[in-house]
Amino acid sequence: MSKKIAVFTSGGDAPGMNAAIRAAVRVAIASGVEVYGIQRGLQGMIEDDIIPMDARSVSNIIQRGGTILHTARSKDFMQVEGQKQAAKNLEARGISGILGIGGDGTFHGLVELEKFWKGQIIGLPGTIDNDLFGSDFTIGFDTAINTALDAIDKLRDTADAHERVFLVEVMGRWAGYIALDVAIAGGAEQVLLPDGDEDEIIKVAKEVELEKRRGKISGILVVSERGKEGSVYELARKLEEHTSYKFKETILGHIQRGGSPTARDRVLATKLGAFGVKMLSDERISGVMAGEIAGNLTLTPLKETWTRKKDKPLDPFLIEIIDALAI
Ligand code: F6P
Repeated sequence: MSKKIAVFTSGGDAPGMNAAIRAAVRVAIASGVEVYGIQRGLQGMIEDDIIPMDARSVSNIIQRGGTILHTARSKDFMQVEGQKQAAKNLEARGISGILGIGGDGTFHGLVELEKFWKGQIIGLPGTIDNDLFGSDFTIGFDTAINTALDAIDKLRDTADAHERVFLVEVMGRWAGYIALDVAIAGGAEQVLLPDGDEDEIIKVAKEVELEKRRGKISGILVVSERGKEGSVYELARKLEEHTSYKFKETILGHIQRGGSPTARDRVLATKLGAFGVKMLSDERISGVMAGEIAGNLTLTPLKETWTRKKDKPLDPFLIEIIDALAI
């Protein structure tokens, strides 16, 4: 009897998830492994929403955003009953290994599943936020920053035409990876990262005033969501208290999650999808995330992907030079 594995996507979708599914399915089949798709992530695992996959079921998807297996944020999986039911379903189907593509919410779920299921578990980093230790980049990050960048380039046209300053909120949860890269690539006047406070607002306001005196007539300030200073609207009003500007606010929102994945994301997703399946062929390997660090394929214990986030800091050099770049 051939080995059976299952692949799924869970949590927020990220461009490149389909490329990872495709690679996992095809490499599994090429190695004589039977492969299934769990629909709607961890929720579908509880509901036994599991379908057989073949080479043709992943045709023509490498270029598509979203995920053909759909995804969900499962509240039921946070409960022990949900985890036990999921384990039961996998066992009943004779599945002995799973490949879960998602972010730290998904990985938290998988660590809980380990308590009730003896099969092999491998995670793949699939989130636009890039906020997982154990991979230099996560699947979807490159596409998301390019999508945000395209929007910022457009905003710059209207900002310049009307001599306005825009506050542009980008996604990224509590991490500032999207904000920092987009700010640098978009030539932003300032960036407000999630760990900023009242002093940061005053500093940014002073910089913006200074830039005006130097002859700048418009600007883009990139704001990371979920900063301590509140929503982008509250932040705009606070900044206005310290400057002569009336700011315009734009929230890029879920547009950053969609779209055709960039070449970089397709290659990363394909590499990690294939690597994940290959690692499942070694029965001693489980409870890890497959990632890429400095060009090397790596395995990191699932727990470390969120407990060691501080070991993957934002690039301090980029933070250091941003003021100088805006003069
Ligand atoms: O984790 C990806 C992400 O897009 C974050 O950047 C954002 O904070 C969150 O998901 C939005 O979640 P939801 O899909 O529930 O709106």
